[in-house]
Amino acid sequence: MKLNLKGKSALVTGGSRGIGTAICRDLAEEGVNLGINYNSSAAEAEALAQELIKKYGIKALAIKGNLAEEGDILGMIKACESAIGPVDILVNNAAYCPSGPLTSYTKEEWEFTFSVNVTGCFIASREMIKRWLERETKGKIVNVASQAAFLGSTSGHLPYDSSKGAMVSMTRAIAREVAPKGINVNAVAPGLVKTEMVKKNLETKLDSYLARIPLYRIAEPEEIASIVTFLASDAAGYMTGTTLDATGGMMMR
Ligand SMILES: NC(=O)c1ccc[n+]([C@@H]2O[C@H](COP(=O)([O-])OP(=O)(O)OC[C@H]3O[C@@H](n4cnc5c(N)ncnc54)[C@H](OP(=O)(O)O)[C@@H]3O)[C@@H](O)[C@H]2O)c1
Repeated sequence: MKLNLKGKSALVTGGSRGIGTAICRDLAEEGVNLGINYNSSAAEAEALAQELIKKYGIKALAIKGNLAEEGDILGMIKACESAIGPVDILVNNAAYCPSGPLTSYTKEEWEFTFSVNVTGCFIASREMIKRWLERETKGKIVNVASQAAFLGSTSGHLPYDSSKGAMVSMTRAIAREVAPKGINVNAVAPGLVKTEMVKKNLETKLDSYLARIPLYRIAEPEEIASIVTFLASDAAGYMTGTTLDATGGMMMR
């Protein structure tokens, strides 16, 4: 398959751990220069940048930025451009996922979840699209949503589930608006993936999760990363506004 990614530049939010790290590794293998965003996991992000520079000879920089803060996002994009040049691909991967029953959530918790998962995605997308329109670049945005957008959760993540629903809607709305400029905006909706985000639930309820998954296994982060790489590539050039399900069959439609 002709991905045509070599020499392109990508900014990956939440690249410091889990699926984000797998996405960075997968893109780096294709020769993509990387801005690796982190919020609290500085050491992990720095180590990843060094690993990928050494292994693939790409440019890579770990960039601190809290997606709940507009100023941080603007600064992160500028730092990324200074280090690796104009960005062609934005991967909105970072997310915050609180746990608890509906009745336990405060307005502050709800709003914080939306500020990271929805507003952060909007601001980063707005800033990249502004630049692409100025440069007349056919950039690509890939959003990491979740099957929770469609199915909800059995383990109490209401603000997160709702934020992922908003992300799926935003994917379509932005895609429709910028399609005439040749900019592609797509999303992937993973099921359960082996990362810190779901570690506790997998330890306590693995059997009940597996019972809902026709492929009868939990995904590896790399299995989501390869879909993101595809969506970021020219091979997916005729796709926009799509959310691809990667749930081991938990969600079929
Ligand atoms: N794991 C699953 O089963 C699953 C299923 C469906 C969808 N997803 C989605 O996949 C994506 C990655 O999740 P994951 O499982 O890899 O989670 P994870 O291992 O918990 O990693 C979360 C990442 O998000 C970053 N992050 C969190 N809050 C941030 C903030 N305020 N500003 C900037 N970065 C922030 C973290 O950065 P720091 O560590 O540097 O703070 C970390 O890199 C998320 O969008 C998640 O919703 C995951």
